[in-house]
Amino acid sequence: MNLNPKADREPRESALIRPATPSDLLSVITLERQCASAAHWTEQQYEKILHAEPDLPARRLWVAERSGAGYSTQDSAADSKVVSGILGFLTALHCAPEWELENIVVAPEARLAGIGKQLLNRLLATARETNSPSVFLEVRESNMAARSLYEKAGFQQTGRRKAYYTNPQEDAVLYTWLESRNPE
Ligand SMILES: CC(C)(COP(=O)(O)OP(=O)(O)OC[C@H]1O[C@@H](n2cnc3c(N)ncnc32)[C@H](O)[C@@H]1OP(=O)(O)O)[C@@H](O)C(=O)NCCC(=O)NCCS
Repeated sequence: MNLNPKADREPRESALIRPATPSDLLSVITLERQCASAAHWTEQQYEKILHAEPDLPARRLWVAERSGAGYSTQDSAADSKVVSGILGFLTALHCAPEWELENIVVAPEARLAGIGKQLLNRLLATARETNSPSVFLEVRESNMAARSLYEKAGFQQTGRRKAYYTNPQEDAVLYTWLESRNPE
Protein backbone atom coordinates (compact mmCIF):
# COMPACT_ATOMS: atom_id res chain seq x y z
CA MET A 1 0.00 0.00 0.00
CA ASN A 2 1.36 3.37 -0.90
CA LEU A 3 0.23 6.05 1.55
CA ASN A 4 2.31 8.76 -0.06
CA PRO A 5 0.11 11.81 -0.68
CA LYS A 6 1.60 12.31 -4.07
CA ALA A 7 0.48 8.84 -5.12
CA ASP A 8 -2.75 8.37 -6.99
CA ARG A 9 -4.95 7.32 -4.07
CA GLU A 10 -8.61 8.00 -3.38
CA PRO A 11 -10.44 8.57 -1.12
CA ARG A 12 -8.09 10.70 0.95
CA GLU A 13 -9.56 9.99 4.37
CA SER A 14 -10.46 6.41 5.04
CA ALA A 15 -8.97 5.52 8.39
CA LEU A 16 -11.17 4.26 11.21
CA ILE A 17 -10.71 6.21 14.44
CA ARG A 18 -11.55 4.22 17.58
CA PRO A 19 -10.65 4.12 21.28
CA ALA A 20 -7.47 2.13 21.86
CA THR A 21 -7.67 -1.27 23.54
CA PRO A 22 -4.94 -3.08 25.51
CA SER A 23 -4.08 -5.03 22.35
CA ASP A 24 -2.98 -1.74 20.72
CA LEU A 25 -0.35 -1.06 23.39
CA LEU A 26 2.61 -2.50 21.51
CA SER A 27 1.68 -0.74 18.26
CA VAL A 28 1.24 2.60 20.03
CA ILE A 29 4.56 2.34 21.84
CA THR A 30 6.39 1.16 18.71
CA LEU A 31 5.04 4.08 16.71
CA GLU A 32 5.76 6.60 19.46
CA ARG A 33 9.35 5.36 19.89
CA GLN A 34 9.99 5.74 16.16
CA CYS A 35 8.95 9.38 16.22
CA ALA A 36 11.51 11.82 17.61
CA SER A 37 9.13 14.79 17.70
CA ALA A 38 6.42 12.95 19.66
CA ALA A 39 6.02 13.22 23.42
CA HIS A 40 7.52 10.12 25.03
CA TRP A 41 5.75 8.18 27.75
CA THR A 42 6.51 5.00 29.64
CA GLU A 43 4.67 1.76 28.97
CA GLN A 44 3.09 2.09 32.43
CA GLN A 45 1.63 5.47 31.52
CA TYR A 46 -0.06 4.00 28.45
CA GLU A 47 -1.27 1.00 30.43
CA LYS A 48 -2.86 3.32 32.96
CA ILE A 49 -4.95 4.96 30.24
CA LEU A 50 -5.97 1.65 28.71
CA HIS A 51 -7.12 0.24 32.03
CA ALA A 52 -8.86 3.37 33.30
CA GLU A 53 -12.45 3.26 34.48
CA PRO A 54 -14.52 3.43 31.25
CA ASP A 55 -17.16 5.70 32.82
CA LEU A 56 -14.89 8.56 33.70
CA PRO A 57 -11.61 8.40 31.86
CA ALA A 58 -9.67 11.60 32.37
CA ARG A 59 -7.35 10.55 29.55
CA ARG A 60 -8.31 9.30 26.14
CA LEU A 61 -6.25 7.38 23.65
CA TRP A 62 -7.62 6.96 20.16
CA VAL A 63 -6.00 5.02 17.36
CA ALA A 64 -6.39 5.23 13.60
CA GLU A 65 -6.47 1.97 11.74
CA ARG A 66 -7.12 0.97 8.19
CA SER A 67 -10.81 1.15 7.44
CA GLY A 68 -10.47 -1.43 4.70
CA ALA A 69 -11.86 1.01 2.16
CA GLY A 70 -9.93 3.30 -0.05
CA TYR A 71 -6.37 2.11 0.31
CA SER A 72 -4.90 -0.28 -2.18
CA THR A 73 -3.58 -3.54 -0.78
CA GLN A 74 -0.93 -4.08 -3.39
CA ASP A 75 2.05 -5.64 -1.71
CA SER A 76 5.04 -3.48 -0.91
CA ALA A 77 7.35 -2.99 2.03
CA ALA A 78 5.44 0.10 3.16
CA ASP A 79 2.16 -1.78 2.86
CA SER A 80 3.10 -4.63 5.17
CA LYS A 81 4.64 -2.17 7.64
CA VAL A 82 1.43 -0.17 8.01
CA VAL A 83 -1.08 -3.02 7.78
CA SER A 84 0.55 -4.87 10.66
CA GLY A 85 -0.09 -2.04 13.13
CA ILE A 86 -1.97 1.19 13.58
CA LEU A 87 -1.74 4.24 11.34
CA GLY A 88 -1.63 6.74 14.18
CA PHE A 89 -2.81 7.68 17.64
CA LEU A 90 -3.80 10.69 19.76
CA THR A 91 -3.78 11.12 23.53
CA ALA A 92 -5.65 13.85 25.37
CA LEU A 93 -6.31 14.82 28.96
CA HIS A 94 -9.62 16.16 30.23
CA CYS A 95 -8.76 18.96 32.65
CA ALA A 96 -12.45 19.83 32.99
CA PRO A 97 -13.79 21.91 31.50
CA GLU A 98 -10.86 22.02 29.05
CA TRP A 99 -9.07 19.36 27.05
CA GLU A 100 -5.33 19.20 26.49
CA LEU A 101 -3.97 17.49 23.39
CA GLU A 102 -0.94 15.66 24.76
CA ASN A 103 0.35 13.74 21.78
CA ILE A 104 -0.51 12.97 18.19
CA VAL A 105 1.49 10.73 15.91
CA VAL A 106 0.84 9.40 12.43
CA ALA A 107 3.04 6.66 10.96
CA PRO A 108 5.57 8.20 8.56
CA GLU A 109 4.21 6.06 5.72
CA ALA A 110 0.69 7.37 6.31
CA ARG A 111 1.33 11.08 6.70
CA LEU A 112 -0.28 13.85 4.67
CA ALA A 113 -3.26 11.65 3.95
CA GLY A 114 -5.71 13.29 6.34
CA ILE A 115 -5.25 10.87 9.23
CA GLY A 116 -3.88 13.44 11.68
CA LYS A 117 -6.86 15.62 10.85
CA GLN A 118 -9.25 12.73 11.51
CA LEU A 119 -7.65 12.03 14.89
CA LEU A 120 -7.77 15.71 15.81
CA ASN A 121 -11.39 15.97 14.71
CA ARG A 122 -12.24 13.12 17.06
CA LEU A 123 -10.80 15.10 19.95
CA LEU A 124 -12.63 18.27 18.91
CA ALA A 125 -15.90 16.34 18.61
CA THR A 126 -15.32 14.97 22.11
CA ALA A 127 -14.64 18.47 23.39
CA ARG A 128 -18.01 19.55 22.00
CA GLU A 129 -19.76 16.50 23.46
CA THR A 130 -18.33 17.26 26.90
CA ASN A 131 -19.29 20.97 26.63
CA SER A 132 -15.68 22.02 26.77
CA PRO A 133 -15.07 25.63 25.79
CA SER A 134 -11.50 24.99 24.67
CA VAL A 135 -8.70 22.62 23.77
CA PHE A 136 -5.09 23.61 24.33
CA LEU A 137 -1.68 22.21 23.46
CA GLU A 138 1.99 23.04 23.19
CA VAL A 139 4.31 22.20 20.35
CA ARG A 140 7.93 22.75 19.38
CA GLU A 141 8.29 25.95 17.43
CA SER A 142 10.03 24.15 14.56
CA ASN A 143 7.35 21.45 14.19
CA MET A 144 5.73 22.96 11.12
CA ALA A 145 3.78 19.83 10.20
CA ALA A 146 1.99 19.76 13.55
CA ARG A 147 1.51 23.54 13.60
CA SER A 148 -0.03 23.42 10.15
CA LEU A 149 -2.40 20.65 11.26
CA TYR A 150 -3.46 22.66 14.33
CA GLU A 151 -3.84 25.98 12.55
CA LYS A 152 -5.93 24.44 9.79
CA ALA A 153 -8.20 22.95 12.46
CA GLY A 154 -8.83 26.40 13.94
CA PHE A 155 -6.24 26.53 16.74
CA GLN A 156 -4.82 29.97 17.44
CA GLN A 157 -1.44 30.80 18.89
CA THR A 158 -1.98 32.01 22.46
CA GLY A 159 1.47 32.01 24.01
CA ARG A 160 5.03 30.82 24.10
CA ARG A 161 7.26 29.17 26.70
CA LYS A 162 10.86 30.18 26.25
CA ALA A 163 13.36 27.30 26.01
CA TYR A 164 10.68 24.88 27.20
CA TYR A 165 12.05 21.88 25.32
CA THR A 166 15.49 20.35 25.60
CA ASN A 167 17.58 18.21 23.22
CA PRO A 168 17.53 20.47 21.30
CA GLN A 169 16.52 23.48 23.35
CA GLU A 170 13.57 25.23 21.80
CA ASP A 171 10.54 27.36 22.62
CA ALA A 172 7.11 25.82 22.98
CA VAL A 173 4.32 27.52 21.09
CA LEU A 174 0.96 27.36 22.87
CA TYR A 175 -2.22 26.95 20.87
CA THR A 176 -5.85 27.13 21.90
CA TRP A 177 -8.97 26.01 20.04
CA LEU A 178 -12.15 27.74 21.15
CA GLU A 179 -15.48 26.04 20.59
CA SER A 180 -17.16 29.45 20.32
CA ARG A 181 -14.96 30.35 17.34
CA ASN A 182 -15.36 26.96 15.70
CA PRO A 183 -19.08 26.15 15.68
CA GLU A 184 -20.00 22.80 14.19
C1 LIG B 1 1.79 16.28 12.78
C2 LIG B 1 1.26 14.99 12.17
C3 LIG B 1 0.46 14.24 13.25
C4 LIG B 1 0.30 15.37 11.00
O1 LIG B 1 -0.37 14.17 10.60
P1 LIG B 1 -0.83 13.97 9.09
O2 LIG B 1 -1.73 12.77 9.05
O3 LIG B 1 0.34 13.94 8.20
O4 LIG B 1 -1.67 15.30 8.82
P2 LIG B 1 -2.86 15.48 7.79
O5 LIG B 1 -2.56 14.73 6.55
O6 LIG B 1 -4.17 15.18 8.45
O7 LIG B 1 -2.77 17.04 7.48
C5 LIG B 1 -3.66 17.98 8.07
C6 LIG B 1 -3.32 19.36 7.52
O8 LIG B 1 -2.02 19.74 7.99
C7 LIG B 1 -1.18 20.01 6.89
N1 LIG B 1 0.14 19.39 7.08
C8 LIG B 1 0.41 18.20 7.64
N2 LIG B 1 1.72 17.94 7.56
C9 LIG B 1 2.28 18.99 6.93
C10 LIG B 1 3.60 19.30 6.55
N3 LIG B 1 4.62 18.45 6.78
N4 LIG B 1 3.84 20.48 5.94
C11 LIG B 1 2.84 21.35 5.69
N5 LIG B 1 1.53 21.10 6.01
C12 LIG B 1 1.28 19.94 6.63
C13 LIG B 1 -1.80 19.31 5.71
O9 LIG B 1 -1.49 19.97 4.52
C14 LIG B 1 -3.27 19.32 6.00
O10 LIG B 1 -3.87 20.49 5.51
P3 LIG B 1 -5.14 20.36 4.52
O11 LIG B 1 -6.23 19.71 5.34
O12 LIG B 1 -5.44 21.76 4.14
O13 LIG B 1 -4.69 19.50 3.41
C15 LIG B 1 2.40 14.11 11.60
O14 LIG B 1 3.22 14.89 10.77
C16 LIG B 1 3.26 13.47 12.65
O15 LIG B 1 2.95 12.37 13.14
N6 LIG B 1 4.38 14.13 13.03
C17 LIG B 1 5.30 13.56 14.01
C18 LIG B 1 4.72 13.58 15.41
C19 LIG B 1 4.56 14.98 15.93
O16 LIG B 1 5.41 15.83 15.74
N7 LIG B 1 3.43 15.19 16.62
C20 LIG B 1 3.12 16.48 17.22
C21 LIG B 1 3.52 16.48 18.64
S1 LIG B 1 2.99 18.01 19.40
